[in-house]
Amino acid sequence: MDRLTVNSPAKLNLVLDVLGKRPDGFHELRTIFERISLADRITLVSNKSGKITIRCAHPHVPRGPTNLVYKAAMMLSRDFSITKGLDINIIKNIPVAAGLAGGSSNAAAVLTGLNRLWDLGLGQQALSAYASKLGSDVAFFLYDSSFALGTGRGEHIKPLKIRTKLWHVLVTPRVKMYTAEVFSRLKLKLTNKKDNVNILLPFLRKGDLVRLAGSLSNDLEPAILSLRPDFINLKNKLLDAGAIGVCFSGSGPSVFACVQSQKHAQSLRAKFDRRYTQAFVVSTL
Ligand code: C5P
Repeated sequence: MDRLTVNSPAKLNLVLDVLGKRPDGFHELRTIFERISLADRITLVSNKSGKITIRCAHPHVPRGPTNLVYKAAMMLSRDFSITKGLDINIIKNIPVAAGLAGGSSNAAAVLTGLNRLWDLGLGQQALSAYASKLGSDVAFFLYDSSFALGTGRGEHIKPLKIRTKLWHVLVTPRVKMYTAEVFSRLKLKLTNKKDNVNILLPFLRKGDLVRLAGSLSNDLEPAILSLRPDFINLKNKLLDAGAIGVCFSGSGPSVFACVQSQKHAQSLRAKFDRRYTQAFVVSTL
C-alpha cells in the first residue's frame, strides 16, 4: 500500500468547563466533545523523495513545519527511521482557527493513517502519547466515538457510548481566533463552580433535546467576547430565528445551535450573510 485517503472531521464542545490554571501554563478542563459531519479529506501518498510535503489549496493552511500534520509525520518518520518520502494532500472544508479543531483532527488523521501506511503497529496508548505532544485536542480524534469526555488539558479521553444524533447549524465568522490568546484573556472565577458536564450528560444520553440545548455552556465565552463583543449578535440571531440552544465551540469564534431537524438547520443557515460568515448544516458523526 502506498496511498491512503482518510476523513478528518471537526468537533464541537457541548460543554467546556475551565477548572483552573496549572503550573505548566495550561488550563485544567472538563469538556464534552462531539464529532461532527463537517470534515476535511486527507490523502497520504508514499514516495521515494525522502521529504515530507504538504499540498493544500486553502490560503491559511501552512505548508511547512508549523503545520501539525507535518509535525505528526516528522515525529513518526524520525522515531521509526522511515526513509521514504510522503505527500500529504489536504482538502480543507473546516474553517481554520475557528474553535473546531480542524488542524488537530488533521494531525490525528495523519497519525492513524501513517500507522497503517507505514505498518507501524502502534496501539491506542502509543498513538495517544504522540497526540498529546502535538496538542490538547488531537487525542479525541483517535477514538471512533461520536461523543467523549475530555479532561486534563483536554487530552485524556473517555469515549461515551451515546447513540443520540444531533442536528446543528454552525456559524463561523470570517475571523481567526487563537486559542492561546483566548485562554490568556480568561478571568477565572472558581467559587461555586458548577459541574456543567454532569448537568448536560443525562440529557444527552436520553436525547432530551430541549434540556440538552438549555445546558450548553462554554467558560471561554467571556474571553471570546472580550475580543469581539459583537459576536454575541450571532448567538442572539440564532435564538431569535428559533434555535433551541446556542453556544460557542472551543476558543471560538464558531457558534453552533441545537435545532430540531435538518430542515430547521437549513432554514437558519440561509439567514447568514456569506460575506461575513460561513454557515453549515452539520450533524453528529
Ligand atoms: O494544546 P494546544 O496547542 O492546542 O494549546 C494552544 C494554547 O492554548 C496553549 O499554548 C495554551 O496557551 C492554551 N491552552 C490552555 N489550556 C488548555 C489547552 C490550551 O491554556 N487546556
